[in-house]
Amino acid sequence: MIIAPSILNADNLNLKNEIDEAVAAGVDRFHIDIMDGHFVPNLSFGPQLVSDFKREFPMTNAEIHLMSDNPDDLVPAFVDAGADIIELHYEAMSESKINYWFDYLASNGVHAALAINPDTSVEVIEKFLPKISQILVMTVHPGFGGQGFIANSTSRIKEVRKLAGPNVPIEVDGGINDETIKLAKQAGADVFVVGSYLYEDGDVAHQIHLLKEKLTK
Ligand code: DX5
Ligand code: ZN
Repeated sequence: MIIAPSILNADNLNLKNEIDEAVAAGVDRFHIDIMDGHFVPNLSFGPQLVSDFKREFPMTNAEIHLMSDNPDDLVPAFVDAGADIIELHYEAMSESKINYWFDYLASNGVHAALAINPDTSVEVIEKFLPKISQILVMTVHPGFGGQGFIANSTSRIKEVRKLAGPNVPIEVDGGINDETIKLAKQAGADVFVVGSYLYEDGDVAHQIHLLKEKLTK
């Protein structure tokens, strides 16, 4: 079970400390949300944030959630910045583009993941399974932190687990807190992106502790 903090709703003027606190609490992967103002109606970070992150935290994995329909410019930029995992959205480009960029990631030693939105049919993952090391099941419509977990996500996670088999990690992203993390885990998820619950609801280390308790019970 992995908790991957999203810094989207962290204090942007205090990011190093916000990341430090989570690393000190045992986090070894950050989920970095990249929004392009086009595929989703919001803007967030760019490649420089990722290269600065890897310089300061070389032992911590940078997982790039690419919410953009411009992979041609951005995938190479995030690979060069030191991304460890890049997640592409099924809805953002053609299937042949996805395949092309998954092959590019493999040849650059970067893990690939496929992200699907709440309205996308789960069956689309099947044809990409040989090329991916994780599936990201969005549990909110992407674009903003702080939204509520969409209730039918649990049945979608179960369906993805059936299609993908027992070995591919399933990540959930959006509205994860100390209640929904249990629902998502019971449905078959094993990687949990957590944004506002960590960075808006109290002390980061304490919040991580509360989530870990829910995962072990
Ligand atoms: C939403 C992003 C999420 C978001 C999660 O588009 O992909 O990663 O930051 O934030 P919370 O945990 O607040 O839903
Ligand atoms: Zn995300």
